[in-house]
Amino acid sequence: MAEKRPETMERITTPELAEAFIAEQVEALKQQIGDKKVLLALSGGVDSSVVAALLIRAIGQQLVCVHVNHGLLRKGEPEQVIRVFRDQMNANLVYVDAVDRFLDKLAGVSNPEEKRKIIGAEFIRVFEEEARKQEGIEFLAQGTIYPDIIESKGVKAHHNVGGLPEDLQFALVEPVKFLFKDEVRVVGKQLGLPDTMVYRQPFPGPGLGVRCVGAITRDRLEAVRESDAILREEFAKNGLEGKVWQYFTIVPDFKTVGVQDGARTDAWPVVIRAVNTRDAMTATVENIPFDLLQHLTDRITHEVKGVNRVLYDLTPKPTGTIEWE
Ligand code: XMP
Repeated sequence: MAEKRPETMERITTPELAEAFIAEQVEALKQQIGDKKVLLALSGGVDSSVVAALLIRAIGQQLVCVHVNHGLLRKGEPEQVIRVFRDQMNANLVYVDAVDRFLDKLAGVSNPEEKRKIIGAEFIRVFEEEARKQEGIEFLAQGTIYPDIIESKGVKAHHNVGGLPEDLQFALVEPVKFLFKDEVRVVGKQLGLPDTMVYRQPFPGPGLGVRCVGAITRDRLEAVRESDAILREEFAKNGLEGKVWQYFTIVPDFKTVGVQDGARTDAWPVVIRAVNTRDAMTATVENIPFDLLQHLTDRITHEVKGVNRVLYDLTPKPTGTIEWE
């Protein structure tokens, strides 16, 4: 039977309530873990970051965070995880550069579900290898949140990630499992995590991999990453960050003809997608001001290598899904 949030549990909406939750959890975590070690896959997303910060407060160096860079993260993300957790919070952080490993495995694979499976399976393999290198781990921490428990078709149900093998079955530590997303954010803010981490838009597990449509190539993946960084920068500058639910760029696997400096070009289009939704089951398209779209087009076509066109996806869900694959 699914676990239930205690009916008496107050909704965490203020810094004071967050502080009380943190104090209670820190005590409970100390009790549960004692002097043992805990392993956590730290993606840099809101949920795993909040779990990491809570555990750092409770058990400090007994927490081992593993950040796997699979090459499909947004620009600046691995650096931010290192800066926040290793440099500022003094966490015991293992950074794994697995970029080549993932991209080699994905080379030539164009089927979206196959791509997801490869990314999920490879992630488990890398994490398993790191777990085996650690001595004395007894617990595995996870950023499970309440919607993951109550919604069988929630966003995380997309994860095609299997589990760790039998001999690596640790006891679970899930300190935010009864919290809703907005509560996790209030707690994260109170724990001192930066706003860019706490108010992050949703980001799929397979990352930019599902936005580099078809078989991923390194140069096209860079076009996704660079155009995404420009879009995020411009949304922040124009007050759209935090207002629009999810926004990103897609680079399809075909080229079209263009012209630059008097010569014909053969390059990719970049598609911009910006949507609003409550639960990701349906979505509407953000009405981006036309001059911002023109400015984005100008920047992306001039700053991103291999791109000569920009398109705006006007499709709500249904009929389009939020991601392109
Ligand atoms: P779609 O494309 O199905 O997306 O309309 C709905 C929400 O789910 C996210 N998404 C994923 N999240 N792994 C994830 O963790 C995935 O494979 C995946 N595919 C889609 C998507 O970004 C949107 O927020």
